[in-house]
Amino acid sequence: MFGFGVVGQGLYDILRTKDLNIELRKIAIRDAGKARSLPAEYFTTNAAILLEDPEINTIVELINDADAAFDIVSAALASGKNVVSANKKMIAANLETLINLQNRYGTSLLYEGAVCGSIPIIRNLEEYYDNELLHSVSGIFNGSSNYILSKIFNENTGYDAALKEAQYLGFAETDPTLDVGGFDAKYKLVIATAHAYGLLTTPGEVFNAGIQHLSGWDIQYAREKNYRIKLIPAAIRLPGNRVVLYVMPRLIRQDDFLYNVENEYNAVTVQAAFSDQQFFFGKGAGGHPTGSAVLSDITALRYSYQYEYKKFHHPDPPQLTSDYQVHVYLRYNDQAVLDALDFEEVYERLYTTGFNYVTGKISLASLIRNRELLSGPEVFIAEIGGTKTSTLVEQPGMAALEGAYG
Ligand SMILES: NC(=O)c1ccc[n+]([C@@H]2O[C@H](COP(=O)([O-])OP(=O)(O)OC[C@H]3O[C@@H](n4cnc5c(N)ncnc54)[C@H](OP(=O)(O)O)[C@@H]3O)[C@@H](O)[C@H]2O)c1
Repeated sequence: MFGFGVVGQGLYDILRTKDLNIELRKIAIRDAGKARSLPAEYFTTNAAILLEDPEINTIVELINDADAAFDIVSAALASGKNVVSANKKMIAANLETLINLQNRYGTSLLYEGAVCGSIPIIRNLEEYYDNELLHSVSGIFNGSSNYILSKIFNENTGYDAALKEAQYLGFAETDPTLDVGGFDAKYKLVIATAHAYGLLTTPGEVFNAGIQHLSGWDIQYAREKNYRIKLIPAAIRLPGNRVVLYVMPRLIRQDDFLYNVENEYNAVTVQAAFSDQQFFFGKGAGGHPTGSAVLSDITALRYSYQYEYKKFHHPDPPQLTSDYQVHVYLRYNDQAVLDALDFEEVYERLYTTGFNYVTGKISLASLIRNRELLSGPEVFIAEIGGTKTSTLVEQPGMAALEGAYG
């Protein structure tokens, strides 16, 4: 095992609970001087001791450094070892290379714990929805920002205090911008999209806006209209075999399942042609919930499980598009932001001292073009959700179903 932090220790606790016939041979860590809860002989700072041991058949990678994790995982796969990882940043950034390595060396890389912690969504997208036409996959993929939003909306906690609590409880990434800026949710979305649609993208291609500039004005606006704010990644299949991807805060109505997903809980909503809407709910962060997904992957390797990436072999692969209109709420100070964004329709506008907002429709392409402007400290943008089927794209007629997989 590489890493003995929140998830590594969580996994160790689980392994101790029963006899699973798993021998934990060695734990690689970074800091040899840190106090540990296990005897010193378990630990090493020398990666080669694990990677070059012919008796180790599985590497479990649970470190908080994506670049080092990529080197470890690639070396392990290339040396014939199977790998389990929970490192969404590393996987999202290198998925194509990692798939190629698995194919080339006949090894398996599993990463259920990387997407929504304890929720078994990757194996479901890969196996269960193999032949379903998925209209959309969305949800709450980041426990830390959801925890912060819950504290703000339910307990009137300030943003900074809520973030500190999330960090203290081990839900937050080492760098909190990854959580609150929507990056972590985006990495998970990129991975989920590969298994849902057979579409390989990189995080750089996907628009993300976060909650880091949420203000009292935005909270007041949401409360007055009976909304809660959640950070939502969405993958939506459009007619013409196109897929749109983005991560944005969303104003959620009470009739949406996601409205009541609180604290570190995560949820995934799958909208499919035949099974209709399905909802997965569970803990998305923390040592034991994530450790349980990692354990499930370790034991799946016993029956030689590997992702087949079946949807990549579809003869007509989907294309990523930004040709999509989003209904948004935008708070801004500088008129230049509004001018640059080029709203296609405007429904509501308010100008007061210190608080200007507009609601209306804007193209995702314009959001992508204006990423820099939107990341400024005096701007907050959120999608305005409709009903629980807000991400439902028109029900396809039989002709459209020809694009279904399988
Ligand atoms: N925390 C969660 O709830 C959660 C949920 C899902 C996925 N994840 C993912 O799981 C991974 C681990 O997260 P975490 O929260 O457990 O991190 P963490 O608590 O910060 O622990 C990180 C561990 O990695 C070790 N480490 C860092 N660089 C290393 C290197 N080059 N070689 C060997 N060990 C190294 C650290 O060693 P030292 O102990 O010596 O510092 C530490 O033990 C991350 O990819 C994270 O995104 C976390």
